[in-house]
Amino acid sequence: MIKRKVIIDCDPGIDDALAILLALKSNKLDVQGITIVSGNVPACQGAKNVLKILNLLNRLDIPVYIGEEYPLVRELVTAEDTHGKDGLGETFLPDISNTNIFYNAVDFIIKTIKKGDKISIIALGPLTNLAKAIKKDAFTLNKVEEIISMGGSFKSHGNCSPVAEFNYWVDPHAAKYVYDNINSPITMVNLDVTREIILTPNYIELLSQFNTSLSKFIVDITKFYVDFHWRQERTLGCVINDPLAVAYFIDNSICSGFYSHIDIVTDGIAMGQSIVDVANFYGYKSNSYVLNKVDNHKFMEYFFTCLFPEFKEDINLIL
Ligand code: BDR
Ligand code: CA
Repeated sequence: MIKRKVIIDCDPGIDDALAILLALKSNKLDVQGITIVSGNVPACQGAKNVLKILNLLNRLDIPVYIGEEYPLVRELVTAEDTHGKDGLGETFLPDISNTNIFYNAVDFIIKTIKKGDKISIIALGPLTNLAKAIKKDAFTLNKVEEIISMGGSFKSHGNCSPVAEFNYWVDPHAAKYVYDNINSPITMVNLDVTREIILTPNYIELLSQFNTSLSKFIVDITKFYVDFHWRQERTLGCVINDPLAVAYFIDNSICSGFYSHIDIVTDGIAMGQSIVDVANFYGYKSNSYVLNKVDNHKFMEYFFTCLFPEFKEDINLIL
């Protein structure tokens, strides 16, 4: 089977961690490298977190590149209130010291695309690395097969302001730059669909029953996130946004949407909002595919069987 080559650009982050696990456990992706951007935590902490995840899966062969430490224009605002001081739910797992972390994610992205193979980018954090890469070499970036960006919203309310989603709110200028300047297709895996993906207490109990090092890791890192969701919005369980971007990339039938033109608000009261011109009011050419429907059950089935194939029968029974 031919595996699709991807770069994962992320800011781990509890749900980024779940997305990376899914990408690496699936047999559909060939992860060329993981690039880190500041978002949930500063990029250097995000890189340490990726190594912990790679170590868990014995995949320290995958190169990790630190990218942009600050948004294009705004001051950096991180989300330790949501993801914990260490970005992995205050599990404070020991750092992995016997592996290199590289710098210059932007050059890595450009160099990898230049090799000539079909490459896609799954972006799970603010779009600063991608915007910088386009600014540096738009010709090369336009050869990307597909960009999947977790961010924004269509009809759903924001999670950082009444209208703005975190990734686009942290670096609205980068998000706007990417949507305005890239010809490769971008799919916006936004809050309208990711809000449907809730790791409920039942699912967490199922993970506890599996009792493997991987399931324990997931239960441990999501505990802080679950408490946050209860405090913040009286949700039981936690919304896991980022793995939906990976699952959708692997299996497009999990979500559906529509083509539209998107613009991103860069300042003022609506900073970070994704404006989706669904009625084609301005008559612009569409620059993205906006997801607005998700088959939650299909996602959960894929998520669990991909991460825990050895428990397929139990998963079928419970799901
Ligand atoms: C996004 O913001 C981050 O907190 C998550 O990792 C996800 O990428 C959701 O708005
Ligand atoms: Ca993220």
